[in-house]
Amino acid sequence: MRLILEGKINKLYVQSLCMVFFRGEKFPENEQNPMGTIYVKTTESQNGINAICELTYKDKNASTSAFVEFEPCDSYERTCKCAVGKAVYLAGKELTGREAPWGILTGIRPSKVADELLSRLSYENAHKVLVEKYLLAPNKASLTLDVAKNEAEIFNKYGEDTCSLYISIPFCPTRCEYCSFISYATKKLFDLIPSYLTRLYEDIREKCKIIKELGLKLVTVYVGGGTPTTLNEEQLTSLLTVISDCVDIDSLDEFTIECGRPDTITQKKLEIIKSFGVKRISVNPQTLNDNVLLSIGRRHTVKDFYDAYKLVQNIGIDIVNTDLIAGLDGDNFESFKSTVDNIIKLNPNNVTVHSFSIKKSARILQNDSSIYEYSGDFAVSSVDYAYNELVSNGYVPYYMYRQKNTVSDLENVGYAKKGTFGIYNVLMMSDNHTVFSSGAGATTKLVKNLSINKEILRIFSPKYPYEYLQDKQDSCKAILNFFN
Ligand SMILES: C[S@@+](CC[C@H](N)C(=O)[O-])C[C@H]1O[C@@H](n2cnc3c(N)ncnc32)[C@H](O)[C@@H]1O
Ligand code: SF4
Repeated sequence: MRLILEGKINKLYVQSLCMVFFRGEKFPENEQNPMGTIYVKTTESQNGINAICELTYKDKNASTSAFVEFEPCDSYERTCKCAVGKAVYLAGKELTGREAPWGILTGIRPSKVADELLSRLSYENAHKVLVEKYLLAPNKASLTLDVAKNEAEIFNKYGEDTCSLYISIPFCPTRCEYCSFISYATKKLFDLIPSYLTRLYEDIREKCKIIKELGLKLVTVYVGGGTPTTLNEEQLTSLLTVISDCVDIDSLDEFTIECGRPDTITQKKLEIIKSFGVKRISVNPQTLNDNVLLSIGRRHTVKDFYDAYKLVQNIGIDIVNTDLIAGLDGDNFESFKSTVDNIIKLNPNNVTVHSFSIKKSARILQNDSSIYEYSGDFAVSSVDYAYNELVSNGYVPYYMYRQKNTVSDLENVGYAKKGTFGIYNVLMMSDNHTVFSSGAGATTKLVKNLSINKEILRIFSPKYPYEYLQDKQDSCKAILNFFN
């Protein structure tokens, strides 16, 4: 699609809004015969900003305008963004006939906007602003305000003197078709695991030493991936031994290991996990539909999930999470409804409902680019059903994020029974919490001076395990420099 912008307009914002209506759309410069053109222009008057949008796509066109008044609580940039957002949104809606539940909000964390509104308005007035100014569907406005309120419980508890540690195990038994995470999933690449672990242990020791030197209080440890339980029993024991040598596990508020794939869970591995004081794990069915599990390449069946879940229940880990994905190709409203109903019967502490998102590096897209045309419309009623059922069964939405190219532009929501919120999930999304990371594909995020001139530094580890093994960057020096 060709983009023509006149005025103070953020190009990336217009592109993201276009992708809400035209999934997977690209915006190359100097494209000869583009499928569509979008022209946006802003003009300023004494009272506010006016934006016009002319959108042409294939043989259709739409022309809209939007005016947003200056308000003392909003910066010039935000007023401009709202005017542009409204004009583009209305044009997209007119041309495609589709509504987008998140209106003109395209960011990863809509609850950040809700949080800012709640700091100066009542819940009802914040809701009104989200619906009228940001064009959110009323149920999404309520969801984001509820999440913001619940997130705040965690944000307020953990100050600048606390931090978290993320440990990356980028290996999985097989690669799921929809997945874009860095993860090695072949026998040949598994040969790297021993040297990867040796390097990782050094990394964990270094990060823990720095945490102590800086006098920070480590509050959560999260071992993720990939699928950490791809490691065999011996490897899992050695990893947990290194962690427990460096960390006072009893003093942590949360210690999570993603077990994710039921086909990696055994009684023995759970005993090891339990014996090292792990407080939270994930066992993820994604869907309780065998045909879909087969087509997404997860290699496990619904029965495997139930068997693994039973082992977990018997072993008695404090908090258990299950991940689901709404809108997968091959599922439908009835089958997803049945998944939600059956998961609720198991009564896990946490349920995370993702919406199917088509990622650039996923195999599903590389094998078939027409997947962008897949609508997965039933995901809308599926996530609404999940929300209603989970809430009426005592779960609350406590964290949320959005991704690009998601069916019906939906969101990912973490639900939890009171008192069992996944603390790391919330903290890692905030720009107010330091997270140290060890391992390939992980990001260390450092924050300081929260009250005056906040500073943030992100340090990226090499993406792939083989790069990580050869990496010579001295992240410890960069960390100490930042804090001193
Ligand atoms: C970091 S992944 C790892 C979890 C674990 N390896 C597993 O697959 O069970 C966390 C979750 O993100 C969700 N997810 C991954 N790719 C997705 C996609 N393309 N669309 C929607 N959800 C996705 C899945 O629910 C997955 O369990
Ligand atoms: S979805 Fe999970 S199990 Fe599947 S490849 Fe990605 S990280 Fe591995």
